[in-house]
Amino acid sequence: MAGELSPIDKAKFVAARRAADYVETGMQVGLGTGSTAAWLVRCLGEMVRDDGLRIKGVPTSTRTAALARDVGIEVVSLDEARWLDLTIDGADEFDADLNLIKGGGGALLQEKIVATASDQMIVIADVTKGVDTLGHFPLPVEVIPFGWQTTKALIEEMLAAMDVLGQQTTLRMNGDAPFVTDEGNHILDLHLKRIGAARQLSMALNQIPGVVENGLFMDVCDVVVVGYGDGRVEVRDINDGTVHEDKINFVDTDNLFSDLMD
Ligand code: 5RP
Repeated sequence: MAGELSPIDKAKFVAARRAADYVETGMQVGLGTGSTAAWLVRCLGEMVRDDGLRIKGVPTSTRTAALARDVGIEVVSLDEARWLDLTIDGADEFDADLNLIKGGGGALLQEKIVATASDQMIVIADVTKGVDTLGHFPLPVEVIPFGWQTTKALIEEMLAAMDVLGQQTTLRMNGDAPFVTDEGNHILDLHLKRIGAARQLSMALNQIPGVVENGLFMDVCDVVVVGYGDGRVEVRDINDGTVHEDKINFVDTDNLFSDLMD
């Protein structure tokens, strides 16, 4: 069944499969959002069902909550869990310092809160997500609907003084209507092309009234598990400064794929 996946999906899957090795019985685990995180949730569901893994999962979106329940993971809220051992999530970009752009799936607010409440954050990503400098992927910024056009204008004014290549901002749409996040907010996507001073930009964005949070995750991620289409994975640990290579055997995972394709 794995043979039917595209190389990118295989890369996402092997990153998720490798990251699942970090999860142990008794842990409270933050569950990310997006297609890569969905593989992780399925892997953990398989471990719950077949290996007796017992964990509490804190999802970062309604989508992830539904999937986690579907695959048999016990779901609790962050308020119930209070503090997490580990969060595993995808990313839209990561750089050599493991700083991230997230929010392509519109869940950046819960993702940032959950990751920050965790002892460790592991990002799972296919190799195309690695960049020298953040900013090619449009930076998502969550804003409240009230006066969003004023917030947009204030962001554009602020960007003029920032070390970025592009300054275009667009309201994310869902068909004909503005996209609405799980918290009832909108997303502005900032087409910056290159972010020269990400930390400064992140702080400046969060000073603007109407901005709830932005998709720059600075100093939050500890480990990135990078997946390749041929089954190779690279585990980059920013705290240890180590890079380990591994290979995932797709044959071992046939159960997961047959469940998925049913
Ligand atoms: C959702 C996110 C996702 O983690 C990010 O968009 C990556 O998604 P995918 O794994 O589908 O490529 O930040 O808000």
